[in-house]
Amino acid sequence: MNILSVASEVFPLIKTGGLADVAGALPLALAGHGIRVRTLMPGYPIVMQRLANTRVVATFDDLLGEPARILAATHEGLDLLVLDAPAFFDRAGGPYTDGNGNDFIDNWHRFAALSFAGAEIARGLLPDWRPDIVQAHDWQAAMTTVYMRYTGLQHIPTILTVHNLAFQGQFGADIFGQLRLPPEAFTVDGLEYYGDVGFLKGGLRTAWSITTVSPNYAQEIMTPEYGMGLEGLLNARSADLEGIVNGIDTNVWNPESDAHIARPYTAGSLKQRAVNRQAVAERFNIEQDGGPIFCVISRLTWQKGIDIIADVADWIVEQGGKLVVLGSGDQGLEGALLAAASRHRGRIGIVIGYNEPLSHLMQAGADAILIPSRFEPCGLTQLYGLRYGCIPVVARTGGLADTVIDANEAALSARVATGFQFTPINADGLRQALRRVFKAWREPKVWGRIQNQGMKSEVSWESSAARYADLFSSLLTRANLS
Ligand code: ADP
Ligand code: GLC
Repeated sequence: MNILSVASEVFPLIKTGGLADVAGALPLALAGHGIRVRTLMPGYPIVMQRLANTRVVATFDDLLGEPARILAATHEGLDLLVLDAPAFFDRAGGPYTDGNGNDFIDNWHRFAALSFAGAEIARGLLPDWRPDIVQAHDWQAAMTTVYMRYTGLQHIPTILTVHNLAFQGQFGADIFGQLRLPPEAFTVDGLEYYGDVGFLKGGLRTAWSITTVSPNYAQEIMTPEYGMGLEGLLNARSADLEGIVNGIDTNVWNPESDAHIARPYTAGSLKQRAVNRQAVAERFNIEQDGGPIFCVISRLTWQKGIDIIADVADWIVEQGGKLVVLGSGDQGLEGALLAAASRHRGRIGIVIGYNEPLSHLMQAGADAILIPSRFEPCGLTQLYGLRYGCIPVVARTGGLADTVIDANEAALSARVATGFQFTPINADGLRQALRRVFKAWREPKVWGRIQNQGMKSEVSWESSAARYADLFSSLLTRANLS
């Protein structure tokens, strides 16, 4: 079976968040099911630099107004199709924003072009390969299913995978004329969204099947609280909506062989973590005297509840805890954390920025990871925490609720607890959970047991890849019947 996956970021080539991890790991897991995934992604400068031995497999004289090529390449087991379109992707900044963090004003054009190319590949653009199914990730790829629906490819099954409903790709109606779609695409059955053009909305309307990245989030997004205005449409499509929890790449995230950490270890040699703990303390300039070291590895945004971390930071220090934070994002939140660090030198350490190796070391050396997200489609850092014996303390929402088993009395005595959950999602809620965390910390046997149980949790892609494989098979059956 051949799948075309369309994604705007793919680890290890380019990453701003969990989408890249998933787009980079799922194809490898599906290979074990006899499924060949080719991934179409933009040719950002860093991607073009990192790829060796590319070959041109298709050219466009006019891809939504610009010349472009598709290059085939392989990279660390991934089979890639790279959209080399300099007018859209050869520029400084990140995948979506310029050097000052502002969205590129032509993002609609850039990602419509990516999606248009995806639809053309489904139509048979490449001489020797054509997908049976197309999977589009998030708003940046969602137009693929819209182009397919309105340009005569509605017989090919499509899946839209929603990693985050908060990012919708909504643009003014004036762009519609440049998308090269027939007028009927600008209706409630297609792209039209409160008078605007909605890329994600169009994808949710036109994809054969919709998946999201945890079962709990799949339920949540059908409610007004989490639906971000799309709950009506999602309810209407509930028969085609499914939540499949993300896994992690257990080769990239393996404390036994991780090259980014100071000392490898296993569940059987947790004492070795002390060397990593020491390295974390040195890196963040904090003292190691008794209390637990909490870490945060995150985009610093309201979604991630980083204001709650800032509110609770002083209290954590009063209780004898330490806090180390790696992240970047909202300037106000960065400022609040930096202020907390300067109030508590030696107790709170902050690194502003994006640093993949350091994120591994923190999971290997910190005692617990704090994730107070207000909503979380899946979340990956709690899964890395489980695998590394860095106990997750999480808000009870989305995929966090699905993947961490709270250390309440019953779970502790049944020996199944893997972390701590809290609600309400505010400073009081987090403090309540942290009181339980400090209590467990004072009982090393209990702490060690929670770590061990976490390290035994199933966090690999194995069972979730099987669920995707089942979904693909059922879509092909449907396609053959229709
Ligand atoms: P989201 O995609 O919403 O940001 P996830 O938990 O799914 O949240 O994925 C975040 C990914 O990005 C994880 O792999 C995490 O380790 C990584 N990450 C987040 N911030 C940083 C950072 N500042 N440095 C390194 N890695 C980071
Ligand atoms: C999004 C979500 C996150 C999820 C990731 C990968 O960025 O915010 O919860 O883990 O996608 O699916």
